[in-house]
Amino acid sequence: MARTAMSPAARGEPTNEPKRPIAEVRDGWFRAFRQVRAETEARAAHLSAEDQIVQSMADASPTKWHRAHVTWFFEQFLLVPHDPAYRIFDERFPFLFNSYYVAAGPRHARPQRGLITRPNGEDVSGYRAHVDAAVERLIGQVPVEEAERVFGMVEIGLRHEQQHQELLITDILHAFAQNPTDPAYDSKWRAPRATQGPRGYVEVPAGIHPIGHDGRGFCFDNETPFHDELISHMRIARHLVTNGEWLEFIEARGYTTPALWLSDGWTTVQTEGWQAPGYWRKKDDTWHMMTLGGLMPVDRAAPIQHVSYYEADAFARFAGNHLPSEAEWEVAARANVMADAFGIAWQWTRSAYLPYPGYRAAEGALGEYNGKFMVNQMVLRGSSFATPEGHERVTYRNFFYPPARWQFTGLRLAEFM
Ligand SMILES: [Fe+2]
Repeated sequence: MARTAMSPAARGEPTNEPKRPIAEVRDGWFRAFRQVRAETEARAAHLSAEDQIVQSMADASPTKWHRAHVTWFFEQFLLVPHDPAYRIFDERFPFLFNSYYVAAGPRHARPQRGLITRPNGEDVSGYRAHVDAAVERLIGQVPVEEAERVFGMVEIGLRHEQQHQELLITDILHAFAQNPTDPAYDSKWRAPRATQGPRGYVEVPAGIHPIGHDGRGFCFDNETPFHDELISHMRIARHLVTNGEWLEFIEARGYTTPALWLSDGWTTVQTEGWQAPGYWRKKDDTWHMMTLGGLMPVDRAAPIQHVSYYEADAFARFAGNHLPSEAEWEVAARANVMADAFGIAWQWTRSAYLPYPGYRAAEGALGEYNGKFMVNQMVLRGSSFATPEGHERVTYRNFFYPPARWQFTGLRLAEFM
């Protein structure tokens, strides 16, 4: 999959220092904006108009909706407040393409996004072009004294769009997995290869460690405040859990042994009839999995994907070990002791998604971005192969509900000494 090479500006390095000539700063944001917007279209270009309207479950959104929603985000949070000359492209679109921002006004029901055949894909392309032109005009013309605030908002819009680039992929894979003909998103797609080398566990430095983002460069609000956490004596797996190890779990009746499961997890296994990870199915008596390249035999050496928190937790119990906490993972990542911390599969941690000590969500609609979801979800760390380049960060906190498994989610184990 094509990856976006982000400019240093968009990588979160200081961009608005007074010493840098404003023309250079504007230029950096032009490039970053065009790169990210083009990456969304490059990912959508694998899909037909019909592919782009389907919504296979309430949690997933149509590609067309993603393309329009990220555009609405720039319109709503950048152009309307910061460009008095801007004119809304279509007064009906904010209702259709607002996701969950209650303070930004009423919105269409999420489970019914797939029913919206009009505006069609071309209309959404027109919307994107209208907003692109307006954002580029603003980047080029914003007065110097307002530049920092405006470019800060451009950056949030770009980071937001990158999050949706990954969702666009996970959502269409879920849709294709419902299709008995096993369509490929990209027939040339190949699974990411894990780092080779000795397996086993590596020590994580014990003691009090700083956790979270220190404020230099970009981060989302949920990565702050920077604070201390105590790390016990423990070790973390150098590698991600593989499909081969998961097959051992299946063959040892992991999915039918209630003692391995959390109560809610066991209930989910029963009600969903889980016998294997998401997208796995037997064909000619061999396990296959639905991938972006279509249905493929399960590769024993590849890291596991599409497991829920419940499954990750049960597997850890089966292996006689644990999932790391998010702080343990972050300390290990800073110590650079893990292989494939980034770029293959998000890794479930045993940490509930909670505010860091002293966290306060921002005022206004953008305060709804992360803070209101801090209950009943679990944190994932790292990134996946579908995460756009430059979007990953050692402090990044992804979060999903414990039964979710349509994302590229795997795990690594931890053990305590
Ligand atoms: Fe969004």
